[in-house]
Amino acid sequence: MNLILYGPPGAGKGTQAKRLETTLGVPQLSTGDMLRIARREGSELGQRAAAFMDSGQLVPDSLVIDLIRHRIGSKDCAGGFILDGFPRTVAQADALDEMLVGLGRTIDAVVSIEVSDDEIVRRIVGRLSCGACGTVYHEMSMPPRVPGQCDHDGSVLVQRADDTEPTVRSRLGAFRSQTSPLKELYGSRGLLLEVRGDVPPDEVTRGILTGLRHGDGR
Ligand code: AP5
Repeated sequence: MNLILYGPPGAGKGTQAKRLETTLGVPQLSTGDMLRIARREGSELGQRAAAFMDSGQLVPDSLVIDLIRHRIGSKDCAGGFILDGFPRTVAQADALDEMLVGLGRTIDAVVSIEVSDDEIVRRIVGRLSCGACGTVYHEMSMPPRVPGQCDHDGSVLVQRADDTEPTVRSRLGAFRSQTSPLKELYGSRGLLLEVRGDVPPDEVTRGILTGLRHGDGR
């Protein structure tokens, strides 16, 4: 199964990707996570991406396209993948088409997670993530069992540097101007599966799996 998770910042793409990884047995490929790792490691790529990420702008296409190109042909993606946060521009979608032709693969569905702007801001300013395993929490709606600690490995939970209200507004602006045309693009190919994202995470997962079983999208 080759999936794209599409949606604005905070829609729940990462939360759902982690759940689908387990259910579908294919890896999550998150460009946001890859860029944050590159920053932590202090690589040249991480340093080039930092200013864009902190101001809520998209990182230049060439940087993220290379990240996905290296990753998508790996052995663990042979049975499929879940793209989380890629593609985000028409140029990235075109590059993905080329990569897939080269690999003899096609996208099965593009899952669009639908959430209002007010809910997005509420979610993002309350988000906490595990610095070690990446599990995502929310201080109100999905709190960890012990405050400030990851349920899985006990690591300290942190707030992302770009999870402030002004940066979220800028990320929403980038989503509208640069990413939203992709919905029409994939819709015109009959690949779009729209699911409600403003319901509890279990219900969102059920909506996705039911849609995929019914062959929505393709
Ligand atoms: P990235 O990390 O991809 O951020 P994003 O798209 O802005 O998405 P988020 O991670 O903020 O949200 P999400 O949809 O995964 O929601 P989550 O599950 O965490 O990108 C960061 C930056 O990197 C970008 O701004 C850009 O600079 C750069 N970048 C990355 N990819 C790029 C690309 N392809 N091209 C160019 N630049 C790129 O959930 C959010 C919160 O809500 C959590 O607290 C969660 O617990 C809670 N929540 C989730 N689901 C529910 C629910 N159903 N009900 C209640 N709460 C929920």
